[in-house]
Amino acid sequence: MKIIQSVTEMSQIMQDLRRKDQSIGFVPTMGALHEGHLALVRKSLLENDVTVVSIFVNPLQFNNPEDFLKYPKMPEKDRLMLEQEGCDVLFTPVKDEIFPPDYNQRFQLGFWDTVMEGAFRPGHFQGVARVVYRLFEIVHPHKAYFGLKDYQQFIIISKVVAPYFKDLKISGLETVREKSGLALSSRNLRLTPIQYEQASHVPELLKIAAGMLGKKNLQEIRDWFQAELSKYNELRPEYLEFAHADTLQPFVEGDAPSNYRIFVSFYAGDVRLIDNMAVQ
Ligand code: PAJ
Repeated sequence: MKIIQSVTEMSQIMQDLRRKDQSIGFVPTMGALHEGHLALVRKSLLENDVTVVSIFVNPLQFNNPEDFLKYPKMPEKDRLMLEQEGCDVLFTPVKDEIFPPDYNQRFQLGFWDTVMEGAFRPGHFQGVARVVYRLFEIVHPHKAYFGLKDYQQFIIISKVVAPYFKDLKISGLETVREKSGLALSSRNLRLTPIQYEQASHVPELLKIAAGMLGKKNLQEIRDWFQAELSKYNELRPEYLEFAHADTLQPFVEGDAPSNYRIFVSFYAGDVRLIDNMAVQ
């Protein structure tokens, strides 16, 4: 596996590969890799000649400075995991090269930045869009892989960032979960065993709440969910929303509940977690 830090060198290698008609698959990450990330890497390995993974903890997308400082970093373990999977190129750029002083691209995120994560994490998606645009510009992949765990991110990248790159296809992969159902997340590493155990109950509650759509009204579903979470002393819900899978428009009472997803954010201790799933 090649490990590259320089942006110039990365662009050069990627251009050479394209000239040789090699297809490039790309998995952007912030490291502290787990099976969720590796599922994306494996898909890329299957579908492309060359697979590139980037690890860059993007300061622009952390609206909470403490979350940025506490974000887990384990570069050596990440490198070994990627090597074992057969990843071809690991790109580990530095901040000054990703965001040079003259990089001032901004995105009109519109409605998608006003709901759920957009509402609760001001500036987060602007930071995500800016880094992903830069990474696409440098790597210039044919395909890029994202997890549906971060569903709103997937929508924003697909609809706002990717269209700048003509021959780029975006793939979204289902959330990889622990046996308990808990969605894998780098932030799970920060949970105490008790917080971890308590957070593991949330996916099951989400599934039950999803099944209530169209049968109970939204207030009843939210009240029920809130009451269930309050049984766990470490858990604190932030939002519970039903939104359309393509548009993220909120479910309106009386709509047919087809093609909606349920979205949650909650705290386990001081660790903020998100999850979402399709309403069956
Ligand atoms: P990060 O949280 O490291 O996630 C990298 C990719 O892995 C994202 O596409 C995310 O949705 C996916 N992923 C995370 N947990 C997953 C799980 N349990 N199952 C499936 N996929 C999962 O998302 C980011 O980094 C950043 O915002 C980034 C896109 C790299 C921009 O900085």
